[in-house]
Amino acid sequence: MDHFELRDGVLHCEEVPLADIAAAVGTPVYVYSTGTIERHARVFREAVAATGDPLIAYAVKANPNAAVLATLARAGFGADVVSGGELQRARAAGVAADKIVFSGVGKTEEEMALACMAGIYQFNLESEPEAEALSEVAVRLGRRAPVAFRINPDVDAGTHAKISTGKSENKFGIPEARALAAYRRASALPGLEVQGIAVHIGSQLMRLEPLERAFAKIGALIGELRAAGCDIRVADLGGGLGVPYDPAQEPPPSPAEYGAMVARVARDWDVRLVFEPGRVIVGNAGALVTRVVRVKEGAGDPFVIVDAGMNDLMRPSLYDAWHNIRAVAPRGNKVSANVVGPVCETGDTFATGRSMDDVLPGDLVAFMTAGAYAATMASTYNSRPLTPEVMVSGNRWAVVRDRQTVEALIRADRMPPWLSEAQQETE
Ligand code: LLP
Repeated sequence: MDHFELRDGVLHCEEVPLADIAAAVGTPVYVYSTGTIERHARVFREAVAATGDPLIAYAVKANPNAAVLATLARAGFGADVVSGGELQRARAAGVAADKIVFSGVGKTEEEMALACMAGIYQFNLESEPEAEALSEVAVRLGRRAPVAFRINPDVDAGTHAKISTGKSENKFGIPEARALAAYRRASALPGLEVQGIAVHIGSQLMRLEPLERAFAKIGALIGELRAAGCDIRVADLGGGLGVPYDPAQEPPPSPAEYGAMVARVARDWDVRLVFEPGRVIVGNAGALVTRVVRVKEGAGDPFVIVDAGMNDLMRPSLYDAWHNIRAVAPRGNKVSANVVGPVCETGDTFATGRSMDDVLPGDLVAFMTAGAYAATMASTYNSRPLTPEVMVSGNRWAVVRDRQTVEALIRADRMPPWLSEAQQETE
């Protein structure tokens, strides 16, 4: 559930009409609901409460805006980070270092050192060479890095191939067959403190069954590793729970169902659990508000051309993702239309043959469920400045990221000396 509702015929975020925000900030603009984020945080916490005192480490990659991170830090969440940048943003927004886990296959030595010095809760190692490198960094710094290995359980998450991470052919983690040797070796490395095991098989999962299969493998491995003398005290079960994008489709499992499954599977593990939810916390807490530039006749359905493009919301062009599209002030009649952006490629298509609210040039429309993997994946392709972000709380709202200016785009480039000299010569 979210806090985007029609009130007196106009779409609001909590108590604020989206049209007010669009009028003040311009379009396109991302709008986030504090109430929705807080509600999802509470629901998730309650859903996994039966598993003891887990660390809920929000996957920063889903939405790294400082206001989002600070809202979740206040709700007691930690952070799952995958870069030095995410680590620094999480710390800057008030996330305690001892609530941070660091995932990712390509951590550099600089990033390892940064996280070591910050004193994070756990590094999720994705390979044996990474373990060697981290140990060296930690020794150099006079530290011991707390680590888990991420296991690749070779389970098909049943989601889009580009966001599936748990199959043996994927780049993530180490196979179960190599686990024992990897843990033995890591336990002997002077810079590492082996404490845990981790798994994450993919994102936007619509069924619990693949997760349960992966977790059962983790449970079995915990037993084997302990038998071999490894002190496994932490099990990080990753993220992945899907959110409803299309109200007409069967919804994904609820956090409560997920939590009950975990409590059952992990009952006898005797570990502290870590969860890394991203999308399920912020997905439905955001909308991208855009304005119809014009409506153009098509060979079939008309093209509704909006002022947001694939550079602002990449998910449809990258994953064929389906986002609900609503008129901010619907007139009541529906049409079938193609919704497209202004970018110069056909991939810049948000919806094809979509039954949606009839809209006219100048109308506002909202792409729903745009709180996760949306603003953060934006680019400036076609020299379109990055979209601003707004946070709503009750009847208040604030810009939490300014619209980038074209001047800033131009300023970021540097002219090489031979071109600036040439320019001077012609002056
Ligand atoms: N933990 C790890 C190690 C991850 O790689 C991810 C997401 C998460 C947690 C959080 O997963 P979530 O709970 O959000 O499903 N850009 C894609 C999604 C990529 C997900 C990457 N990893 C999209 O727009 O669908």
